[in-house]
Amino acid sequence: MTGRVKILRFDPERDAAPKWREYEYPYEPGMTVLDVVNYVYRHLDGTLSFSYSCRNSHCGLCSACVDGRPVLMCREPARPEMAVEPLRNVPVVRDLQVDLDAYTRREDSLRTFLERVMERGQGPEQVDMEAFAAFRVASRCVRCLNCVSRCPVYPADPHGYAGPAMLVRLARHLFDPRDGLNRELVACDEGLYECTGCGACSTVCPHDLDPSGVIAGMKVKAARAGLLPAAVSDLAATLPQAGSAFPVPRGRTTFLQDTPEVVRARGETRGTVGLFVGCLINTHPRLRRVAESAVQVLSAAGWEVVIPSGQVCCGLPLQEVGLGERATSLVRKNRDAFAGLGLDAVVTICSGCGHTAKTFWPTSGGTLPFRIYDFSEFLAQSLDGAARDLIGGVAGLSSVTYHDPCTLSRGQGVREEPRRLLRLVPGLELREMAEPDRCCGGGGEVPLTNPALAEAMISHKAGMVGDTGAQAVVTACPTCMRQFAGALQKKRLPIEVLHVADVLARSLERR
Ligand code: SF4
Ligand code: SF4
Ligand code: FES
Repeated sequence: MTGRVKILRFDPERDAAPKWREYEYPYEPGMTVLDVVNYVYRHLDGTLSFSYSCRNSHCGLCSACVDGRPVLMCREPARPEMAVEPLRNVPVVRDLQVDLDAYTRREDSLRTFLERVMERGQGPEQVDMEAFAAFRVASRCVRCLNCVSRCPVYPADPHGYAGPAMLVRLARHLFDPRDGLNRELVACDEGLYECTGCGACSTVCPHDLDPSGVIAGMKVKAARAGLLPAAVSDLAATLPQAGSAFPVPRGRTTFLQDTPEVVRARGETRGTVGLFVGCLINTHPRLRRVAESAVQVLSAAGWEVVIPSGQVCCGLPLQEVGLGERATSLVRKNRDAFAGLGLDAVVTICSGCGHTAKTFWPTSGGTLPFRIYDFSEFLAQSLDGAARDLIGGVAGLSSVTYHDPCTLSRGQGVREEPRRLLRLVPGLELREMAEPDRCCGGGGEVPLTNPALAEAMISHKAGMVGDTGAQAVVTACPTCMRQFAGALQKKRLPIEVLHVADVLARSLERR
């Protein structure tokens, strides 16, 4: 069978800009992308420039983007039709070959070798298994830079932020108890707290090193060493007692204060769900509308909604800066608030809270006595028959684009459900943007610790939203909503920012 491969070619001495060239090759199942590129070089075009060595996933030299995804070409199966281009976020020397000089110089300046402080005659040293396991993971990095190619922070601040590969390299020594340097301080200087925790890097690491998880572990060590950024230290000190990461604006009340603890189902009752509101939606004068929409939709779909007034912050702001251990009292209060109510499910309307509740709460106090669902996840599987018939068109809204919050798409694996719900609305067109799951810059408390970086990231994303020509951007996270509202206003783009629950609530109003 004849395969077709498009390769992005660039010769800096002759070309003003990169251009795609297409080649035909004899496709056979079992071929790797590197086999195809080698075929093109040997039989069709000897000027093609690329690099490789081991052909066995160890040297990290053969990285490239295939159909937009960074991979090692030597282990990526070839497809009959595919597009190959150089890694993104790294300077290109020629064709698929990237320039690693600047990266290597920066890495060398960090003294990425074991700094041992030993007296003469001292040793041998013992390393406990926990520490060994932590730095062994980081030791397996092959410096392929796939993670850097995928990271949304790195291109927004390439001189400040070292990027996931370099941080993993530092982790190799930070987690090694024999090392004598203050690697936590070095990591902070290299932008540790600029990482939003979006998890994109972990989806492309060929050796499954979970760079995002490694970086989260480094934040724990940095926080224990007292290196928390000043911008979050007040929040970290007061949150466990206050129970909310956001103050209530003067003269306002919260959603929880204004809403009865039980809202009956409209019509026949299918069951009872708990609603976890989250402190941003609870306190924000405009975002509390999201909770009102969710209650309206769940009740119309036949669910009695219980909204315990004892619920507090989920603990995410502490956990994402490395202070998860300070969030145990918050987790306990939330467990107590929802336990023993005979709930069929607990539904969250903030994807950050939902991700924290699903992944962090069970590690801080054991298995949960209830199941947690994101709003879209729950509705997409329970919205059937008569409830589905309630959905009508939304006046004045004919096109939307959907932004995947990191904590919902990569965090909870929920991508299709919100789209499925939006497609149920008659007359509403869903227009996909260029990179719907690229981080908006709202995670990791970056809007607090580095507002300029968070703004640069959301500005880039708001441009993608504008390019779709949609009337509204829909998402499932109040932090993303707040980010979008500010950026779209700055760009003077008249685009509404809505939660999935808002769209569905409006669609019910027509019925
Ligand atoms: S988690 Fe996101 S921001 Fe952090 S290093 Fe990975 S890709 Fe970059
Ligand atoms: S962490 Fe993984 S993706 Fe990043 S450079 Fe190392 S091996 Fe490659
Ligand atoms: S050729 Fe070494 S990793 Fe692919």
